[in-house]
Amino acid sequence: MVKISEDFILQLKGLCDIVSVISSYVDLKSSGKNKKCSCPFHSEKTPSMVIYEDTQSFYCFGCGVGGDIITFIEKIENLSYVDAVKFLADRAGLAVPTSELDDKISKQRSRILKMNKIAAKFFFNNLRSDVGRFGREYFAKRGLSKDIIIRFGLGYADDSWDSLKNHLKSNGFSFEEMCEADLVLKSKKGSYYDKFRNRVIFPIIDIKGNVIGFGGRVLDDSKPKYLNSSDTPVFKKSLGLYALNFAKNSGSKTLILCEGYMDVISMHQNGFNNAIAALGTSLTESQVRLISRNSSDVVIVFDSDKAGSIAMDRAYKMFLDIGVRPKALRLKGAKDPDEYIKKYGASRMKVLIDQSKSAIKIKIDTIEEKYNLEDVEQRKDYINEYCLIISNIVDSLEREVYIGELCKKMKLTREIVTNHVDYLLKKKRKKYNKKIDRELIKNVKLEYAAKNMHSKYDRAEQGIIRFLYNNPDYINYLSEKFDENWFDSDLHKKIYKTIVDKINYGSSLDFVAFHSVLDVDEMGIFSKIVNEGRNYANTNRELDDYICVVKEKYDEKYEDISSMTLEQIEQRRKQNAQKKR
Ligand code: GTP
Ligand code: MN
Repeated sequence: MVKISEDFILQLKGLCDIVSVISSYVDLKSSGKNKKCSCPFHSEKTPSMVIYEDTQSFYCFGCGVGGDIITFIEKIENLSYVDAVKFLADRAGLAVPTSELDDKISKQRSRILKMNKIAAKFFFNNLRSDVGRFGREYFAKRGLSKDIIIRFGLGYADDSWDSLKNHLKSNGFSFEEMCEADLVLKSKKGSYYDKFRNRVIFPIIDIKGNVIGFGGRVLDDSKPKYLNSSDTPVFKKSLGLYALNFAKNSGSKTLILCEGYMDVISMHQNGFNNAIAALGTSLTESQVRLISRNSSDVVIVFDSDKAGSIAMDRAYKMFLDIGVRPKALRLKGAKDPDEYIKKYGASRMKVLIDQSKSAIKIKIDTIEEKYNLEDVEQRKDYINEYCLIISNIVDSLEREVYIGELCKKMKLTREIVTNHVDYLLKKKRKKYNKKIDRELIKNVKLEYAAKNMHSKYDRAEQGIIRFLYNNPDYINYLSEKFDENWFDSDLHKKIYKTIVDKINYGSSLDFVAFHSVLDVDEMGIFSKIVNEGRNYANTNRELDDYICVVKEKYDEKYEDISSMTLEQIEQRRKQNAQKKR
């Protein structure tokens, strides 16, 4: 375990004001003395995340995520605690004391990155040597230029079970390390063999220029067509984007989102240096956010087949959900961008991209082709589907505009259409709220948060914690009147004990002190407890009440039942159950 000193982190936090850091990710609105925003960790239409400047912390009332700026970075950038600290230090221009970072994990990661670089070079050199003939032929057939092959570092894994394995071994890597990088696999019998064989290789490079993983394509029609690195300590498929390293620096404010590696490469070869793709998975929410952080203007250019149009549907909704209005285009006469450019040329592609319409408009055009508007039944379905599309629009003004369009087109009154859209919106919200509930329950710790939000006992336990956190002088008072063993919740007890320890040692009560005791989910609960009801004046009376309630529950739990009859026990149980309600 790495230990970065608390002093350093406190200094760092002093330089990273939570409001200014979070505002670089989401739009903040003022709400009393606090700030509010739409939570970036779940989809929502009304802001439910609050940022508390005085405690330099945040809490989302929708999904229960919360903590300090480090927790925020851990979650939004998907980083470990140590990496989140490094990330913030980078941002603030501070150097993390290096000796403290020489931990096992970062060593392992740098070994894997080194290995990946060597492997990429190996594949790349293969393509130029005798063994690479089939690879060269394949890329030539696909029309890739020498330049583009070099720019993307494309390569070839020859048809052998051990050539990369031996090469890495001679470079001093162990078989275990090769497996950690997912370059070599271990058979059931315990022997090791190369993962990529007889495939052309697409190295995946992050924005820092590290080779983080590989995609490999077969040369014929065999299956699976693409083989990708599994997740490793340096590679998370669901997080990155192919060619973002180039697209980010392309000088264009637009990003063109394609489906496949080959599409991206073909686009770049033809001057569209701002093309990107997901990494061998369907688009994830993290990738959508990553795109929106790098550009406000997205054009989706997916394959023209059924799968492509479903994927496009899904993608545009994901963008709408985070408040980005993507543009899109449908390719006619070719199955994907790669084929389109080959068939019709880059300049025609350029025209298509420049003229790309909002994805909403594209959707509407698509359904218009689907229905025969002369037919009454189909007209009804068309109107319903049109309204469904409108109900996905977040911006109410834009919704109004499309409502107007539909009225005009189908000769309907505004009232009818508005009512129907409202009805669909309500239905959607209901479904959405159900989904949030399910998400809450999926996470046991958050389930805790949801379940106990209203229990009087839990409120009392949390009240004591909040009171002490905000009034550390009361530590003696509490030590006389209260016993930590009275806590019913282990988590509450853990938090309380940490606060007491910190006060006794005269340490700061900043959230930093709690990162070593609480995990990311527990941090959210902690943030809720500390920040909730901070505007009330804390009084002795209130504290005494809390203590009383907690003690009552404790006594009830440990009441001597040995002398009761079974009937009495059952009756007591019922009484208690009733009291709770
Ligand atoms: P080409 O056939 O070479 O033109 O491929 P493409 O880049 O056009 O890919 P396609 O449209 O078939 O698929 C889109 C993307 O999905 C690919 O670039 C891969 O990232 C991914 N993909 C396709 N087939 C597979 C597969 O068999 N396994 C995995 N894991 N990913 C795949
Ligand atoms: Mn293709």
